[in-house]
Amino acid sequence: MNDAVLVTGGAGFIGSHTVATLRAAGRRVVVLDDFSTGRRENLSEWTGDPQVEVVEGDVRGEVGLLLAGHGPFAAVVHLAAQTSVVRSIAAPIDDLDVNLRATTRLALWAAAAGARRFVFASSAAVYGEPCRVPVAESEPTTPLSPYGAAKRAAELYLGCLGPLHGMQTVCLRLFNVYGPRQDPKSPYSGVVATFLARARAGEPLTIFGDGEQTRDLIYVGDVARAICLAVEAGSKEHVLGDMTAGPPEPAGINIGTGREVAVVELAAAVQRACGVKAEAITFAPARAGEIARSAATTDTAAEMLGFRAEVELDEGLRRTAAWLAEQG
Ligand SMILES: NC(=O)c1ccc[n+]([C@@H]2O[C@H](COP(=O)([O-])OP(=O)(O)OC[C@H]3O[C@@H](n4cnc5c(N)ncnc54)[C@H](O)[C@@H]3O)[C@@H](O)[C@H]2O)c1
Repeated sequence: MNDAVLVTGGAGFIGSHTVATLRAAGRRVVVLDDFSTGRRENLSEWTGDPQVEVVEGDVRGEVGLLLAGHGPFAAVVHLAAQTSVVRSIAAPIDDLDVNLRATTRLALWAAAAGARRFVFASSAAVYGEPCRVPVAESEPTTPLSPYGAAKRAAELYLGCLGPLHGMQTVCLRLFNVYGPRQDPKSPYSGVVATFLARARAGEPLTIFGDGEQTRDLIYVGDVARAICLAVEAGSKEHVLGDMTAGPPEPAGINIGTGREVAVVELAAAVQRACGVKAEAITFAPARAGEIARSAATTDTAAEMLGFRAEVELDEGLRRTAAWLAEQG
């Protein structure tokens, strides 16, 4: 049996696309998910596939017991998380438990279990309000929420645990991810899922503030490809260098498109993708704590992983709207 890739949070939005990309690359995949926000339907395409095993369990639990008999693992992709910035502000200790403590425990277990590579879903939230846009990995990190702080702390822990335990760690700083299977009903949904759901329902899109705030919106299929490249680069030392020799530099790799999209521009693109009238937009007061601008530099991902985003916004929105239409 070939060594598996463990995908925590594999039943979630990004996780299920990651499973698809890893399977397409011929990998055996083990999913560990507590189904708190993930859904079994997201994995239904692999029902009966002996190369995809699904283990229900909490990453805060006894992972070694939960995964006994499912290894060995070549790599771990750690996506399971408390993903809401708002909830992290309301309950920072709960956020810390999942996003830092469980991540650290999982990394220690993975190294002891012989995994050679640990790929972690970090976030653009580590930057807070970036000093410069597009923001490079070398820029200061000043997170504005416990969520961002825990992601940054996890990067630092992984940066020292990897070399200490002989495991390569890669932290991917994901920007705003959108696409099929993002739950538009969640109160914590991204702006794209919320806009698409409202446009499809014939409701006006609400823009908080003047709509000139920008985001770097990356299609989920591109993110899954970046994750898969980070896993596969484990066998190509020349791509990532010998990361067992010292802490990886930089501590995180931006995964974005490099393109800044203003929220007003996004609203118009969503309405085009759904074929609805452009005037159906309302403005509401700006929300506290929202950053003004965000976009990634993309050179590090290109150099270290051979990754560049490929799906243009209009195409990504078209695919997402088509998926939503299928859901009825
Ligand atoms: N979506 C984005 O725009 C974005 C941006 C930056 C970073 N990220 C990170 O990417 C990762 C995946 O996010 P997503 O958008 O796919 O969210 P998601 O909620 O769809 O996926 C998270 C998955 O983890 C599972 N999970 C949560 N807590 C768990 C626990 N304690 N034990 C086991 N499983 C658990 C959930 O059931 C779900 O399947 C997260 O780490 C998130 O912080 C996402």
